[in-house]
Amino acid sequence: MSDSDDEVPTLSAHTLAALQEFYNETRTSQSLDTTPGDQFAVGAVEEDWRMSQFWYSDETATQLAEEVIREAGEGGRIACVSAPSVYQKLKQGVVEGSDRVSAVVLEFDRRFATYGDDFIFYDYNEPLSLSACVAPQSFDIVLADPPYLSEECLSKVAQTVKYLSKGKVLLCTGAIMESVAKEHLDVQMCSFLPKHNRNLSNEFRCFVNYPSHLLSC
Ligand SMILES: C[S@@+](CC[C@H](N)C(=O)[O-])C[C@H]1O[C@@H](n2cnc3c(N)ncnc32)[C@H](O)[C@@H]1O
Repeated sequence: MSDSDDEVPTLSAHTLAALQEFYNETRTSQSLDTTPGDQFAVGAVEEDWRMSQFWYSDETATQLAEEVIREAGEGGRIACVSAPSVYQKLKQGVVEGSDRVSAVVLEFDRRFATYGDDFIFYDYNEPLSLSACVAPQSFDIVLADPPYLSEECLSKVAQTVKYLSKGKVLLCTGAIMESVAKEHLDVQMCSFLPKHNRNLSNEFRCFVNYPSHLLSC
C-alpha cells in the first residue's frame, strides 16, 4: 500500500467553494419566507425541480393573492391550478380580504394533500379527470401556472381552466407562450412582472382575459 492510499480524499478549493455555495443556496431557499410552524408559508414545501417547481417570491405570491381576492369578490371562489404558493398566501391570513373568499389548490404533488379538502389531485395529462366534487364553472377566478412551456401542456391546462372558470382567468407562464395563450385562453399579456425565489432563465409573465390593473402596473 502506498502512502497515497492512506490519504483522505480531498476536494479542490474550487469544488469546495462550489459545494458550499450550493449548500448555502439550499439553506436559503428552505428558510426563505418560512416561519417555523407556518404550514401556509410560501416555501413550506420545498421546491422539487423534477416537478418543475419554482415558487414565487413572497411579494409576488402576495400581489397575486390580492389580485384574485379583488377579482373573485365577496364570498368568491378561487382555484389555484399548479400554483400552490398563491393558495398558501390566501390561507396564511396575512392578505386583506382573504377571510372573505375560499380557495382550493389543484396539484400533482401529493405533499400538498396536507391541506385536506382544499387539495384536489391534478395531472394536466388528464385535464378533465377531476374529483367528482369539482363542479363545472364553479370558480369566480382561476389562476394557473402550467409546469411546462409547451403548447401540449398549455392546451391541456387550458381545458381544465375553461372547465373550472365562470369567466375570469389569470395565467402565469413564460412570455414565449404569448401566442399559444391567446389562442387557447384569449388572454392578454400584463406589464406586471412576477418574480420567483430563484432567478428563472425564461422571461416570465402574467396573462389575463379581464380588465385587470396588472395589465398596466
Ligand atoms: C412552474 S410551477 C408553478 C408554481 C408557482 N410558481 C407557485 O409558486 O405556486 C409548476 C407547478 O406544476 C406542478 N406540476 C408538476 N407536474 C404536474 C402535472 N403533471 N400536472 C399538473 N401540475 C403539475 C408542480 O408541482 C408545480 O407546482
